[in-house]
Amino acid sequence: MKMLLTGARVIDPAQNINDFMDVLLEDGKIAKIDADLSPSLKTKDRGKIQILKLKGKLIAPGLMDMHTHLREPGLEYKETIASGANAAVVGGFTSIACMPNTEPINDNRSITEFIKRKAAQAALAHVYPIGAISRNSAGTQLTEFWDLKDAGAVAFSDDGKPVMDAALMRRALEYAHSLSLPVISHCEDTNLSAGGQMNEGYYSTILGLRGTPSIAEEIMVARDILIAEFTRAAVHIAHVSTAGSVDLIRTAKKRGIKITAETAPHYFTLTDDALQAYSTNLKVNPPLRSAADVKAIKAGLADGTIDVIASDHAPHARTDKELEFEYAASGISGLETSLALSLRLIHEQVLTWPELISKMSLQPARILNLAKGTLKPGADGDVTVIDPERIWTVNVKSFRSSGKNSPFDGWEMQGKAILTIVDGEIKYDDRAQDKEA
Ligand code: DOR
Ligand code: ZN
Repeated sequence: MKMLLTGARVIDPAQNINDFMDVLLEDGKIAKIDADLSPSLKTKDRGKIQILKLKGKLIAPGLMDMHTHLREPGLEYKETIASGANAAVVGGFTSIACMPNTEPINDNRSITEFIKRKAAQAALAHVYPIGAISRNSAGTQLTEFWDLKDAGAVAFSDDGKPVMDAALMRRALEYAHSLSLPVISHCEDTNLSAGGQMNEGYYSTILGLRGTPSIAEEIMVARDILIAEFTRAAVHIAHVSTAGSVDLIRTAKKRGIKITAETAPHYFTLTDDALQAYSTNLKVNPPLRSAADVKAIKAGLADGTIDVIASDHAPHARTDKELEFEYAASGISGLETSLALSLRLIHEQVLTWPELISKMSLQPARILNLAKGTLKPGADGDVTVIDPERIWTVNVKSFRSSGKNSPFDGWEMQGKAILTIVDGEIKYDDRAQDKEA
């Protein structure tokens, strides 16, 4: 089956394309991309080709979210692989990578294979499992990296928990490097963060909630930079939240250290003053930081210090969130709001369109060594079509994710994925408002 996407502006940072182009999909792959493909095709293929007219829309390589939490196996009441993959395509993501903090932890081949099997059954977005660095993510013994890679793991992380033992982190970086897979580091010194409920600062003081200081993150970022420099291996820093981390990463990159970094939309959208509402939907780890931190995160995104925007989609059930602040779980259900919140960076002129698309498709694909994130002929037919003008209101009740825990409920957004195409098949279609004949 052939599908022609026509009339839209195509943004493909890998090919330096930011122009009006036609894209032809055939047999699940990108077949052609050119200024005007319709005349040549019409005569030959009339009737056999699905033509999608997309005037006023943007075509991007399928978006990739390299940091999500699906809760299967073990915590299906929060999210299943199928419900998470469903939320992904609604959010415009054709690929997601999922963290290993399930129950049990994804620290072995059978769980990695299970995740892949469930994802294949769901047949929505591509799902790439991330294997644990340490057994049971307990931080003492490395997992079987080779075995995990062989089963399909695309990276290693103990996300949700830091690797506190620097010697173990050193071995992890060395071993992962030999397998050409990245290590994704959750940077948190748990002695400094112990008992922390929110960012340590003015608001934690007036609210009477114990704070997590920014140095709890930065000390570990600094440590990982030193380990990466010493081992000459790559490290990827997850969910950067502080100005100090941005500075450390910027300097390390200048020194040629193999470091990449991501942040999540809540870290450039919300500040810790919002916690005055005492809403547990604002509880997240690392915590929402100060206005100065948000400014630095935006500067880090703008100058390329922060390579990737990832959702850190962390779905939780009502029973995990409707508790006293101290007992509530951390996390925000992010897959269905990540793109729209990120588009605000374009409206604010922090990022250009190609920069944003790159941080949400090409860059994560590069870091995970996946042949994705581009519309080059021959590439997989993963495409996201965005309506940059669509005004819509976040409503958690209509989330496909089982996790309704979003502080953005009721927010008005501009810009939305309206078509999510995976391997040449439409997996999500929200053209309802402006479908053309
Ligand atoms: O807020 C968070 N939630 N941060 C993490 O690191 C883990 C995540 C989760 O698994 O819920
Ligand atoms: Zn996470």
